[in-house]
Amino acid sequence: MIRFCLNGEWIEETNFDPSWTILAYMRTKAMQLSVKEGCAGGDCGACSVLIGEANSQGAVQYLAVNACIALLGSLDGKYIITVEGLSDGEQLHPAQQALVDHHGSQCGFCTPGIVTSLAALYHNQGGNSPSDHDIHDALSGNLCRCTGYRPIIEAAKAMNNYPAPHAGAPVLSNVVGHFDPSAPIEGGEAVVEHQGRKLFIPQDEQQLASILAQYPRATIWAGGTDLGLEISQQFKQFDVLVSLHKVASLTEVSENNEHVRFGAMVTYHQSHSVLQQHFPSFAQLLERIGSRQIRNLGTLGGNVANGSPIGDTPPVFFALNARVEIASSRGVREVAIEDFFKGYKQTDLQAGEYLKSIIVPKLTAQQSLHVFKVSKRKEDDISAVLMAARIERDGNTIKEARIACGGMAATPLRARHTEAALNGQPLQLASFEKACKQIKKDYSPITDVRASDAYRLTVAANLVIKTGLASCDKAGVK
Ligand SMILES: Cc1cc2nc3c(=O)[nH]c(=O)nc-3n(C[C@H](O)[C@H](O)[C@H](O)COP(=O)(O)OP(=O)(O)OC[C@H]3O[C@@H](n4cnc5c(N)ncnc54)[C@H](O)[C@@H]3O)c2cc1C
Ligand code: FES
Ligand code: FES
Repeated sequence: MIRFCLNGEWIEETNFDPSWTILAYMRTKAMQLSVKEGCAGGDCGACSVLIGEANSQGAVQYLAVNACIALLGSLDGKYIITVEGLSDGEQLHPAQQALVDHHGSQCGFCTPGIVTSLAALYHNQGGNSPSDHDIHDALSGNLCRCTGYRPIIEAAKAMNNYPAPHAGAPVLSNVVGHFDPSAPIEGGEAVVEHQGRKLFIPQDEQQLASILAQYPRATIWAGGTDLGLEISQQFKQFDVLVSLHKVASLTEVSENNEHVRFGAMVTYHQSHSVLQQHFPSFAQLLERIGSRQIRNLGTLGGNVANGSPIGDTPPVFFALNARVEIASSRGVREVAIEDFFKGYKQTDLQAGEYLKSIIVPKLTAQQSLHVFKVSKRKEDDISAVLMAARIERDGNTIKEARIACGGMAATPLRARHTEAALNGQPLQLASFEKACKQIKKDYSPITDVRASDAYRLTVAANLVIKTGLASCDKAGVK
């Protein structure tokens, strides 16, 4: 059984297909028809809904997510609001009224998703007017094909001029339901079983490890922003799914003098402030990953565990010399991130194991980190090339360069020849201009829809020079 609060009403669901997405449920069972299906791939935002979780003080923060790739089972213990729940009778939510008054909707297909994203922006701004950057960020995952964005952005700027939804409005009063959503579900039993397929929702790592010991080939579900597409676009059915969303220890970020440790379930959204503090160029990269909705769901652990050669964070973890913790009922082991990637979409994870955390050494005063993503669009696009470089200097000499790229090989890969050409050289642009010629020894990329092999090599070589410019600038070298 799972329990969640839909538009202010707690609902219990016992008999459903574990592979059901929130979108499928909303459109076929809950009849919340504002939740539209456009692309079914997390790209267009037509299916956006608000999902909230109660914190320890009982307050709920709502974030916009894509219902088309989010698992219904991952709603257990959470709050969900669709556009049907936003207005209070005839009183429209400020995001809705502003869109009406600024003519922000023509055919209307995208409109519920846009209202959802604007409502999330409205409630997360704490009454402050959103900046242009905030508005663009909030709408980064919403495609409107016919109205054009100018009136939508004007509506976003005007939302705060409307009367706030009154406290008794059905959903925004942070309803407290008739059960404690944090109350544990018994043991590690299957929460849902349907036609022989099972969904488990462990409450802690002990339960997780014992479920995985029993079902070593189970599919682990984190944010689902990769896996959800296997359901929505390839119509895959999973025999045993294990959702990690209730394993609180995997969502923790901790740090000491040497490193920052990210639990595997830390989302891009949750990691942003810590990354901003310790690795600002990594934090900047987040704005180029997916869209607001994807960043609200997708996890750092999922980006690493999927073993993809085009995941954006692994090259950064390579450059930072990160380690991963891998756990199972047999215990915990630690592996250097480079040894975790074994081949195209192959990782070091063995049956019954899960990724527990990513441990990232902090930068010293002599080190600087530079991250560059090259893709055809600013948002919602996969990298043609991603380069991350940590440059350590000793006075005016490059002591150690650690450079890694995504999109250039079957796995994220270090640029060893380029690094060797830089190590021990003067920290000046000429060293990088010379070393960049080694890139073609480091990589033999393929040609695909994103870029040709020649383009990738040229871009990567240019990014070495850009790294030189940035690191010289950082070190105050002319
Ligand atoms: C529209 C869209 C845009 C995107 N844009 C980008 C982008 O710009 N850059 C980018 O890098 N990616 C992008 N992605 C891909 C995806 O969002 C990321 O890879 C994300 O980090 C995956 O995390 P998740 O939590 O959603 O993983 P999930 O989909 O839940 O899982 C991914 C894989 O990892 C496994 N897994 C997850 N967590 C664990 C764990 N703790 N232990 C063991 N195995 C685990 C799962 O079993 C699965 O095989 C995009 C996806 C979409 C749909
Ligand atoms: S339907 Fe397009 S993002 Fe979900
Ligand atoms: S109003 Fe038609 S797609 Fe936006």
